[in-house]
Amino acid sequence: MSVPNGLRCLLRPSTTTSIPARIVPVTVLAASFSSTSLLGKNPLPPKGKAPPSRVKVLPGGHIRAGKKMQLGKFKKNKQVDRSRPPAPGERKAYRKRVTLSNNNALPVEGLEEMSPQAMVDPEKVGRMLALPNELVDQLRAVEAFKPTQTWNMFRQPSILQRKETRELAEKMQAAAGKGETLKLVISGDRLVGKSMLLLQAVSYAYLNNWIVFHIPEGQELTNASTDYAPIPNTAPTQYSQQAYALRILQFLRKANQKLLLDLKTVFPHPELVQHFPVGTSLLQVANAAKEPDSTWPIFNAVLQELTAEGAGRPPILFSLDGLSFVMKASEYRSPAFELIHSHDLSIVRRFVDLLSGKTKLPSGGAVVAATSRGNSPRNPSMELMIAQQEAKQGLREQPVKEPYNRKYDDRVEAAMRDIEVLRLSSVSRSEARSLMEYWAASGLLRTAVDEKAVSDKWALGGNGNLGEMERATLLTMRY
Ligand SMILES: *[C@@H]1O[C@H](CO)[C@@H](O)[C@H](O)[C@H]1NC(C)=O
Ligand SMILES: [Mg+2]
Repeated sequence: MSVPNGLRCLLRPSTTTSIPARIVPVTVLAASFSSTSLLGKNPLPPKGKAPPSRVKVLPGGHIRAGKKMQLGKFKKNKQVDRSRPPAPGERKAYRKRVTLSNNNALPVEGLEEMSPQAMVDPEKVGRMLALPNELVDQLRAVEAFKPTQTWNMFRQPSILQRKETRELAEKMQAAAGKGETLKLVISGDRLVGKSMLLLQAVSYAYLNNWIVFHIPEGQELTNASTDYAPIPNTAPTQYSQQAYALRILQFLRKANQKLLLDLKTVFPHPELVQHFPVGTSLLQVANAAKEPDSTWPIFNAVLQELTAEGAGRPPILFSLDGLSFVMKASEYRSPAFELIHSHDLSIVRRFVDLLSGKTKLPSGGAVVAATSRGNSPRNPSMELMIAQQEAKQGLREQPVKEPYNRKYDDRVEAAMRDIEVLRLSSVSRSEARSLMEYWAASGLLRTAVDEKAVSDKWALGGNGNLGEMERATLLTMRY
């Protein structure tokens, strides 16, 4: 066993003195611990002063407390770091923050603006369209932009006008023109751009002065993260979600403010605490909802007004991302501790009744939902109904329902029996090219955009999968 250094020097037989170890003066002891000759000359500190923690003796005999200052400084910094911990929700807010502009990106000249005409114009397919500022505010207000999308890399939000975008915009236009309700589900592989197409549908609605009810994440309604309560006198019991209803009203107030101001009530609403004479602006009614506890009746009143027959209401879009979460049992429990089916949540129910065709929008409009392949659970009934519809549209062969699978859900099948499916697939090469030209013009792509570069990136991105192309090209540049 080795003897530790400190001990060894005590054990070393002293050659200079014969003082017994117990009464060795401090200075001598210190010298014997040291391996440097400097400290050997260390004088005792002046009376009444504590010895400096570490002193350095300069050649002239001056003493400088070297490290001490730094130690103090270091401590100070440490205290600054020990600031208050983030408030509840602050981390999440940061994670979910969407930055829509990058001042380091080059402005792209000559982009056309997105407009009601451009969205249905065959000439504009394959072009990048810049979102007008007012629309950006509306989309931001309803949280239609997602933090996973690449907005923060470009100067101004712009979207590729795909052929499916035009198809969807035309369907919406036709439905509204005939006073009918388009019921459509966007399907497609992962990262193919489903949420982006949904955002374009929402954009089309705002640009055409529709009322929009947008649910950015179906999951938020069903994963038991917002409060709920049974609604009296409903059988089977339905549940209200007041906090979420308030959020929807806030979305509406921000994004559809002008429209709501012009629309006037046609019902007297004796059920509301406040008195709103017939002819009150809908914005005033919507503004009456201030806190979750009093929101539910107001939410219902606003919906009743907006869907009033013969009152000359504008078309409405109900849009939802992450369809599979509202097409299964929710994570909420009933008082008997059974899982509540999502369709018994009143907000979801309204959406589902429109999708199934049970209720109709009197002035027409659309229900558009996007499936999500990222984090959503498998949903056999939803997938079956989508596949059946795709087969009907000639996009694939008839799917087979597994005879003994008990995970099928009749309510879901009933809700989705009569829908249209828009199957989103890869971008074409010409679409890819205009996207890459936009990236290059923004200063994000260093290579020349020629036939070969487009082919390369197109192939690299899983043959034109939009998200894969972005990943392969843009996200390697993220810092
Ligand atoms: C509920 O869904 C939201 C939105 O997707 C998510 O941020 C949240 O973490 C989920 N909460 C739970 C308890 O799963
Ligand atoms: Mg998505």
